Amino acid sequence: MRIPQETIDRIRQSADIIDIVSDYVSLKKRGQNWIACCPFHNEKTPSFNVSPSRQIYKCFGCGKAGDPVRFIMDIENVSYPEALRHLAKKYGIEVEEEQLTPDELIRQNERESLFIVLNFAKEYYRTQLLETEDGRSIGLSYFRERGFLDQTLQAFELGFSPDQWDGLLQEATRRGYRTELLEKAGLILTKEGGSGKPYDRFRGRVIFPIHNVSGRVIAFGARILKADKNQPKYLNSPETEVYHKSQVLYGIFQAKNAIRQEDVCYLTEGYTDVISLHQAGIKNVVASSGTSLTIEQIRMISRFTQNITILYDGDAAGIKAALRGLDMVLEEGMNVSVATFPDGEDPDSYVRKMGAEVFRQHLSHHTNDFITFKTDILLKDAGDNPFKRAEVISEMVQSISKMPDPIKRQVFFQKTARRLQVDEQTLISESNRLVLKNLERPQERRSAPASPRPGQGPEPPPNELTEILNDFSSADPYEAPVPEKPVTRLKSRTPLAFQEEECIRILINYGGYELEPDISVCHYMLSELGAMEFTTPVLREMLNEIRQGFLTSEIRTADYFLNHPNQDFQLLAIDMVTVRYQLSENWEKHEIYVPTEADKLADAAFTNILRLKKLVAEQRMSEIKLQIGQAQEPEECDRLMLEYMHYKKVDIEIGGLLGTVIS
Ligand code: UTP
Ligand code: MN
Repeated sequence: MRIPQETIDRIRQSADIIDIVSDYVSLKKRGQNWIACCPFHNEKTPSFNVSPSRQIYKCFGCGKAGDPVRFIMDIENVSYPEALRHLAKKYGIEVEEEQLTPDELIRQNERESLFIVLNFAKEYYRTQLLETEDGRSIGLSYFRERGFLDQTLQAFELGFSPDQWDGLLQEATRRGYRTELLEKAGLILTKEGGSGKPYDRFRGRVIFPIHNVSGRVIAFGARILKADKNQPKYLNSPETEVYHKSQVLYGIFQAKNAIRQEDVCYLTEGYTDVISLHQAGIKNVVASSGTSLTIEQIRMISRFTQNITILYDGDAAGIKAALRGLDMVLEEGMNVSVATFPDGEDPDSYVRKMGAEVFRQHLSHHTNDFITFKTDILLKDAGDNPFKRAEVISEMVQSISKMPDPIKRQVFFQKTARRLQVDEQTLISESNRLVLKNLERPQERRSAPASPRPGQGPEPPPNELTEILNDFSSADPYEAPVPEKPVTRLKSRTPLAFQEEECIRILINYGGYELEPDISVCHYMLSELGAMEFTTPVLREMLNEIRQGFLTSEIRTADYFLNHPNQDFQLLAIDMVTVRYQLSENWEKHEIYVPTEADKLADAAFTNILRLKKLVAEQRMSEIKLQIGQAQEPEECDRLMLEYMHYKKVDIEIGGLLGTVIS
């Protein structure tokens, strides 16, 4: 059914973003806007901003943004029309729905009929399990042996298909379902070429209904009960119009609330793992069921949490392929960990044997971040072979480069360098090229709406939303660029000197701020700078003082330099800390909220570092140009050319990165 445009307009006009968002998070007023910790990702300091004047929200942490309808879509995981209905209900607007075109009607009805017949099948299998003799003696006793309790059978709507050729087919026909529909739903098969007689797909098996995120049955998995070499242990529904294997996670409906609450999603291999853990009270668990993880599945998880822990049952087969696939999860910006289990145990067997408490303890002791996990596996594999070790380095750099967050990359470069016993800088320069590639399509990744579930209604008109989002970039006071020209005692600054000063300014104002737990701004910037020496003498000395301090875990900020015996340091430090302070006071008098720079610290630090590196590369290039002019030997000329090309590449790459940061 289609909602008439008029009604859509009314809903949009009534919807108030503050009102709506407040149903989910508690907002605090800040200036003209409201802020909160983002409901879409895990954070401790609020970066989720809501603008009542523009009726939009934007999280500066995870990038989620939109209007009231988009907010409901994201937070409730519903389609566009569903979100509209949700809002209509909230504001008491009656939605009289328009008739669809005959074509739309047929399509819509077909999907709807599929859901209905699948629901019928689920009920049929449940009745078979609970109310027939075979069901109880074979199916139910099997589930009992596995330790499944009644409420678990209920929660997952488990069932039983009798060992007959057409049990379901007969009952369905009696109820008036067409054979064609049963076939489209993947419930029956027709022998090709043979008699043409249709028969049940699932026979003599226990049944695991597969639900979509809103709890409708879309397919079935079916496990054999007697050992039979000629039969697969599990049979699954084929792809149908409502079941696309790559977009489905088994258990997501039962797990979604727990995933949000626990802020982590456990990923297992199969039905039994999900069910056993759920029964043990660990409910934030899903399975990718047979396939390796897909991007659609990851995006589904990322609507509920940014943290995935893969419960990996440790059999060596296929592990490398699995590892490679997982880079994709890093690319989505998610935090991935891997938990391992003792040989021969999977999550299902382990939780049944040890109980939930021991299981949780085991997880807390045997979970590693994915990068460490992968490094260790590859290293073990490479042994002492230097070529293989080099491959490991390149492989790991590739993985880390997939992470969209520069701070996280930084952390993992450090960690991995230590583990690989190589210089961190080696990893970083190796990654420059790859990082660029990663960021080349930021538009696509950041602002693309989480992939719509096909067929669940029309997407919102894209232009409208884009326009709204563009609105965010300039006019809003909290997005407006801060005029930032600190008065300075440094005469005639070159661009490089300007960036050097900016670097020190960030360091002494915010050096102690944490960008991530345990990663201070100072830590991040010093490791990015490596051994770089500033060209401006006073700034070079200050940087070195900061470095000195950091060696003994002291973060030297404004206070340190304000009390420094060197008067040059003092004067410069005063300039660097006062300008911005006075400025924001003035702004506040006019009731305009100026973003504290701390809000955008990560960007500021990252941008400054990139600019510094770019300028150094440019300086080096002009030196090389001179040297090439003076070179005597062709070999020397070649060497210089190569070096020049190298810096050129770095220069272009950073240019690209800066472009994306600025925009
Ligand atoms: P298992 O082989 O452990 O299945 O695979 P199980 O039903 O728990 O069997 P037993 O009782 O331990 O022998 C674990 C998961 O892997 C998937 C299923 O989802 C199962 O829950 N699987 C396994 C398949 O999809 N197909 C298969 O053929 C086997
Ligand atoms: Mn098992």
